[in-house]
Amino acid sequence: MLVLGIDTSCDETAAALLLDGRDILSSVVASQAIHAEFGGVVPEHASRAHIRLIAPIVEKAIEDAGKEASDLEAVAVTSRPGLVGCLLVGASYAKALAYSLGIPLVGVDHIEAHVFAARLERPEMRLPAICLVASGGHTELILVKDWGRYTTLGRTRDDASGEAFDKVGKLLGLDYPAGPAIEKLARGGNPKAFDFPRAMMQRGNFDFSFSGLKTAVRYAVEDRGGRPEGQEFTDFLASFQEAVVDALVTKTMWAAAEAGVPTVALGGGVAANTHLRERLTEAAERAGLDVVIPARSLCTDNGAVVAAVGQALLDRGITSGLDLDVSASREDARAGREGTA
Ligand code: KG4
Ligand code: ZN
Repeated sequence: MLVLGIDTSCDETAAALLLDGRDILSSVVASQAIHAEFGGVVPEHASRAHIRLIAPIVEKAIEDAGKEASDLEAVAVTSRPGLVGCLLVGASYAKALAYSLGIPLVGVDHIEAHVFAARLERPEMRLPAICLVASGGHTELILVKDWGRYTTLGRTRDDASGEAFDKVGKLLGLDYPAGPAIEKLARGGNPKAFDFPRAMMQRGNFDFSFSGLKTAVRYAVEDRGGRPEGQEFTDFLASFQEAVVDALVTKTMWAAAEAGVPTVALGGGVAANTHLRERLTEAAERAGLDVVIPARSLCTDNGAVVAAVGQALLDRGITSGLDLDVSASREDARAGREGTA
C-alpha cells in the first residue's frame, strides 16, 4: 500500500511516500528559515509558510518517488499535538487530496509518529520497549507495549529538552533552532568544566525539568558579565549539553530497568544529538539491552514516520472522516475517527 504522510505541526513542512509501512520512497522536509530572525517559531508566520509550501512539497515527494498522485492509496496527516494554525493547513490539504482521489484519510498523533521512527529504523525490534521522545515541544518516556499500545511513564514538567537547547542558544546569541549549533560548538569541550544542575533525579521519578538548568545558565552568563569565549565557551556548551543528556539517559535507563524491557529507543529532534545517541548506546549496551537509534532524518520532523503510523492505523481498520479535527493537545481531537480501535 502506498501512503502519503504529511506533517505541518510546527515549523517544518514535510511530506513522504511510504510503501507497505516500511520502504521510504521519498521524504521532503522544508525548514522555515523565517523563524531564525525572531529567535523562535512565530505561529502565524509558520502557518503562512505552510500554506505556501504544502502543495510544492507534496508534489516533490510524489515526483521524487517516481509516482503520480493517482498512485496514492491513503493520506496520513498529523492532527495533534502542535500549533493549531499549522496543523490546520496540513489537515485541510490532506482532506482535499484524499477526497479528490477517493482514498482514505487518517489523522496521526505527532508523538506516536516520533515513536515510529524506531520501527522504521528496525521493523523487527523487540517489544516492549522504552522510547524516549525528545523534541522541541515534548520530552516523554513512553512504554511501548505494542505498536499502538502505550503508557507514558514520565514527561517534562516545564520546558521540553529541545526547548532548553533553543532557549539557552538564544541567551547565548545563537540562531533558532539552537540544538544543532550547540552540538557543533560543544565538540571537543570538557563536559565537567561547569557544574550545571540535573533536576528531579530520584530513582523512580520519570519526569523531567529543564527550567532550572536554563536559569543556572543565565546566572552563569550574568555573573561573568557575558558569555564565555574561546575554549571556555566550548566547555560551557559541552557542560550544558551533558546536563541535558545525563538527565535523559539516566531516566531512560531507570525506566527500562523498572519496566523490565529488552529494548530502549529514541525519537524526536533532540535524538539527532550525537552525544545523546552515543551515551544512550553505551548505557544500553552496559545494561545488556537492545538499543534502536533511528537515522537522524527519522528523528527530526518528517512525513515518513507519519505515514508509518497511518499505515498501522489503516491495518487496524481505522480511518478518519472529513470532520477530522486538529488539536494543540494530545487528548482532544479524536473526533472524526472511524474504525475499531
Ligand atoms: O522533533 P522536532 O524536529 O520538532 C518538534 O516536534 O519539536 O524537534 C526540534 C527540536 C528543536 O528544539 C531543536 O533544537 C532540537 O530538536 N534539535 C537538537 C538537535 N537537532 C535538533 N537538539 C540537540 N542536538 C541536535 N543535534
Ligand atoms: Zn516533532
